[in-house]
Amino acid sequence: MNTSGNERGVWSSKLGFILAGAGSAVGLGNIWRFPTTAGENGGGAFVVVYLVSIGLICLAVMIAELSLGRHTQRNPVGAYKTLAPGTAWKYLGILGVLTGWGISSFYSVVAGWTFGYIFKTAAGVFSGLSPVEIEKVFTDFITNPVYSIGCHAIFMTLTMLILFGGVKAGIERWSKILMPLLLFILLLLVARSVTLDGAGKGLRFYMMPDWGAMTGRGVVAAVGQAFFSLSLGMGTMITYGSYLSKKDNLLSSAVWVASLDTFIALLAGFAIMPAIFAFGLDPAKGAGLIFVVLPNMFNKIFLGNLFGTGFFVLLTVAAVTSLISIVEVPAAYFIDEMKMSRKKAVSIAGFGAFVAGIPAALSMGTVGWLSDLLTIGGKKLGFLDLMNLVFGQYSLIIGSLGVAIFVGWNWGADKANAEIAEGNPKYSGQTIYAFFIRFMAPVAVAALLICLILFPDAF
Ligand code: TRP
Repeated sequence: MNTSGNERGVWSSKLGFILAGAGSAVGLGNIWRFPTTAGENGGGAFVVVYLVSIGLICLAVMIAELSLGRHTQRNPVGAYKTLAPGTAWKYLGILGVLTGWGISSFYSVVAGWTFGYIFKTAAGVFSGLSPVEIEKVFTDFITNPVYSIGCHAIFMTLTMLILFGGVKAGIERWSKILMPLLLFILLLLVARSVTLDGAGKGLRFYMMPDWGAMTGRGVVAAVGQAFFSLSLGMGTMITYGSYLSKKDNLLSSAVWVASLDTFIALLAGFAIMPAIFAFGLDPAKGAGLIFVVLPNMFNKIFLGNLFGTGFFVLLTVAAVTSLISIVEVPAAYFIDEMKMSRKKAVSIAGFGAFVAGIPAALSMGTVGWLSDLLTIGGKKLGFLDLMNLVFGQYSLIIGSLGVAIFVGWNWGADKANAEIAEGNPKYSGQTIYAFFIRFMAPVAVAALLICLILFPDAF
């Protein structure tokens, strides 16, 4: 099976990879999911667990995925088939493909909201409204099936169009301009947010860990969020690593991507947490958080509608560069393993995700039973929340555990170290990396999962 022919590209440079990798990592996960999940799980304590997970678990897993990809030059299923032919490891790749389908479905729904908000903000819909009225605009918007499914359809179509043409040149080039712009507007929001009346309470909530408010589930949520934010656990980084040149320094690229991603997530928290408290909103209000908090803030900023519109344009772009990296995983699988053309592969992957996204789009209050499927820890979960939990959290944790065990024990830390040393002759972290990938990462994640199974009540 030759998959390294003309169909396969290589990033134009190390910077090209860092931008595409950061484009994948930085997305709704940083600006929508991170503050939302932190708000639901006690704030500061969540942030501490999140940061510890990035440093002690996720970075090692990211390096593992990138080395697997660069070494085999294959999609996740192909990578396992190449290194462990005839074994069950390929199912880990298949889980990744399924997870890509699951995450892309609800991701596109939320990205559709950000897309719709470009027009709402530009039209000045929120100008002069009170926080309660702003919340009503949001609820009306997401419970209107024409808007929510329509925006989801437009967003998925956009993603598929980009993937049809191949990603590299366009995405690399645009990320260079748009990522710094997003950072600029985010910094502006932070400056405004921390100077609002009553911001102090939010800052305390965000920066002072209240361990009493932290549950076992909160720990799982924080670790899950760290994997989600770095695009780990389903093979995105295996796939992106497969386009990485042997000349490039894999280790420093991974550190760059992880640092940029973490920095932007933390900033988003500084923009949002103080504002939640200043406007008297509830930090645990879930999926809609940023869509209510941010328009309130734009009302308080000079040229707020302009910056607001700019912000949602950039967030939409950040979401596209992430969504393509999610849909690319099932697409690469169809291309490599099922011998489909790129067009057909992307169409099936994208359309499948669109269909799975419809119930998610209808589960924000439009259809009663979809919005209230089950209750965990006193919180009602709808279809979107459930997809987010199953695919965006558990599946990624299981996938990452699998990658760590595979690279640490099956393929072997020595081989991974040899791959890392390619393009980095001065590399000397062999012992440390072997420790992290063989012990630290798998033991920590396995312990977490075992606790969750043994003591479901404590969670
Ligand atoms: N990391 C992206 C974000 O924060 C989303 C994403 C892209 C992702 N690829 C992924 C999440 C792979 C999990 C797995 O928005």
